[in-house]
Amino acid sequence: MPRRLPVVLSSLKVRFIVAMILLATVVIGLSGWWSVTTHRGHMLQATQDKVRAMAEAVDSGIREAMRAGRSREVQDILVHMAQDPDIEQIAILDSRGRVLRASRPELVGQVLDRDHLSQLLVQPDLTVTQHYEGGEPIQSVVKRIQNRPECLACHSQEGQTIGILHLDMSARRTQEQIVEMERSAVWTVLLTAVVLATGGALLMIRLVERPVAALMRKMAQVEGGNLATRADEGRGDELGRLAASFNAMVDRLQAAREEIETYHRHRLERAERLATLGELAASMAHEIKNPLAGIRGACEIMSDLLPSDDPRRELSTEVHRQIDRLDRTLRDLLLFSRPPATRLEPSDLHGAIEHVLAVLLRDAQTRGVAVVRRYSGTMPEVPLDAQQMEQVLFNVLLNAFQAIGFAGTVTITTEADEREVRVRIRDTGPGISKENADRIFKPFFTTRSKGTGLGLAIVRNIMNAHGGRIVAGTAPEGGAEVVLALPRNA
Ligand SMILES: Nc1ncnc2c1ncn2[C@@H]1O[C@H](COP(=O)(O)OP(=O)(O)OP(=O)(O)O)[C@@H](O)[C@H]1O
Ligand SMILES: [Mg+2]
Repeated sequence: MPRRLPVVLSSLKVRFIVAMILLATVVIGLSGWWSVTTHRGHMLQATQDKVRAMAEAVDSGIREAMRAGRSREVQDILVHMAQDPDIEQIAILDSRGRVLRASRPELVGQVLDRDHLSQLLVQPDLTVTQHYEGGEPIQSVVKRIQNRPECLACHSQEGQTIGILHLDMSARRTQEQIVEMERSAVWTVLLTAVVLATGGALLMIRLVERPVAALMRKMAQVEGGNLATRADEGRGDELGRLAASFNAMVDRLQAAREEIETYHRHRLERAERLATLGELAASMAHEIKNPLAGIRGACEIMSDLLPSDDPRRELSTEVHRQIDRLDRTLRDLLLFSRPPATRLEPSDLHGAIEHVLAVLLRDAQTRGVAVVRRYSGTMPEVPLDAQQMEQVLFNVLLNAFQAIGFAGTVTITTEADEREVRVRIRDTGPGISKENADRIFKPFFTTRSKGTGLGLAIVRNIMNAHGGRIVAGTAPEGGAEVVLALPRNA
């Protein structure tokens, strides 16, 4: 079963655009994310490098000033360096946390709280840490100012470290640049996705939707019966090839339709001719019937005039037989070409079979043919025209007896279910070949030298008039089997 899609996704175009947007967003989003992450890392790294470089520069500036004995300039150096807009403050502390020099002079002399001091004391040289002050990201670095030989003149009393350089730098600008970069990356992703989707949609409409719509219009025309229409095969792509196979299909359809029309025309002409011939045959049969009755009467009188031992009596009997045969043929012809109206009444099917057997049985017995009855014990009455049904049973049973010739068995089985009743007539004759199974119902088809081939044609007409059916074939164990089925409710 085809999957149910939401209505909006049932259009190929919409599905294509949605897929394009999703794909573009995922691909460009991933590459944007990767590039933003890399850039962010680089920018943070560059900021940290700058903090360290500033600390180094301040350190060497201080050392230079000290060496030249201009220790008072240290304060000026700090103030000067702090002019960089990113620098928050630079301070030199002693090991107890007292501010010795600071870029903000008001801080000189202040003592750092213990927490802050212990944090600074454990922080390794030139390692950048980040914290927030009033929502602003601050990057901090410390550098211990070593007591070098050139310092000893003034700092002979102090130990290895003569002060701690502490530098705070704001990372706000870097953060703003990162946010700006992220925002523009998001816009790039969205814009690219929209441009790709729009471009894709336009391409889709131009390359696929329009030719497909044109092809669908042609299909609708063919569906409407116009087989003269053809699709444009001009394109060399898959749609062009689709149009070519569509055209080939319509060509074949057109050829088939013409063939069917020719066939029907011939059938119609033939049917008209046959109907005319049938009418002619029926009226001739009617015309012949009366004179034939007269000939039979005359023949009987002539035969009565002959002495009982006269050898010409045999000739007269033969004439009689031939007249009877002619009469039967005429009756069949009339029955076939002008079938009487069917009058259905609930009747006993077994009774109809017995009537027919009463007529046929004597001749059959003299030829050594036995009849086995396997009647259903629950056979209901069925709506049928008793006279016509006897005609049916007569024709089928007669065929069975004739097929056996001498010595054999005819088995009559009846069965009923809730829909229909069936009479199954099986004989031990040669059976009916597969290729003859359909032809035997055609009027005038016969394999018997004395047959007219109307027996089963009449049977089928009567079965159709009853809303029933007849099937004939060879039974698995050999011999013919004819099944007559009648609906229980006509
Ligand atoms: N029980 C059967 N066994 C074998 N062949 C059969 C049997 N019943 C019918 N057929 C074949 O079907 C043909 C047509 O049968 P159908 O009764 O229509 O005509 P027919 O018997 O030849 O002539 P008639 O008009 O005298 O009945 C027969 O000639 C025969 O070949
Ligand atoms: Mg027959």
